Amino acid sequence: MAKILGIINVKGGTGKTTTAIALGSYLAAFGKRTLIVDLDPQANASLGLGVRLDKDHYNLYHALVADAEPGALIKKTSIFNLDILPSSESLAGANIELVNFKNRELQLKKVLNKVKDNYDFILIDCLPSIGVLNVNALSASDYVLIPVQAEYFALSGLEQLLSIVDLVKKYLNPDLQILGTVVTMFDKRNQSDRNILNQVHKNFPGYIFNAVIPRQVSFAEAPSLGKSILQHDPYSKGARAYRELAIEVLSRVFPSPQ
Ligand SMILES: Nc1ncnc2c1ncn2[C@@H]1O[C@H](COP(=O)(O)OP(=O)(O)OP(=O)(O)O)[C@@H](O)[C@H]1O
Ligand SMILES: [Mg+2]
Repeated sequence: MAKILGIINVKGGTGKTTTAIALGSYLAAFGKRTLIVDLDPQANASLGLGVRLDKDHYNLYHALVADAEPGALIKKTSIFNLDILPSSESLAGANIELVNFKNRELQLKKVLNKVKDNYDFILIDCLPSIGVLNVNALSASDYVLIPVQAEYFALSGLEQLLSIVDLVKKYLNPDLQILGTVVTMFDKRNQSDRNILNQVHKNFPGYIFNAVIPRQVSFAEAPSLGKSILQHDPYSKGARAYRELAIEVLSRVFPSPQ
């Protein structure tokens, strides 16, 4: 049965989608059957993996609000072991429609329960907000993984997110755990980036993954080619950093017996 990781930050542009695709690719390369769930109506994860749906094509939205079978919506990607449950802009409607559902926070959990036996990992690529969709992601997840961009306001978003995680643990999903925080778009030549890395370490000791993702142009290029970094620039520092992250994720989720 799959371990479910919500890849989340309430801030926009912190590397959530890039992390979902790159981490998912390496977990798949390590032999783990992996599903990426595109919870963002911008559909960046779907597009980044070469899956473009018209607005009306059945997608995650129909599974969430109209009981469509998620198994029938899942598409294979060009990476062996990596599948995607795509979204399209119609998913934006779910924000409003779910309000009328009795268990509106638990719809995604219900959807993923139908497919989780087919995977080792499910990565949910969240959207940058605190709406009902992200509460669904936190309710459905075993762990949260938080990409934090090396930038001045990184910490403000983190504190807000951690308080939401606490609320979800209290009311909806007591087993939710924080797996860790990964610093993204890091430029080691930049003194302020180094200060931010130190600050994140100081404020959240023990949470930060050793893997730090460097700023690298090929990350911005890859989505337009519908490729993951593993396919587009596999020998780069950034690709190696995500490979290291995948190894750390595996060791945190499956700690070896002492
Ligand atoms: N390590 C990196 N180096 C350079 N560019 C990057 C890196 N990681 C991500 N990017 C680029 O930064 C932008 C934001 O990244 P991404 O889409 O992964 O963030 P996000 O958190 O998913 O954004 P959103 O909140 O809009 O969903 C994208 O254009 C992406 O290609
Ligand atoms: Mg995104």
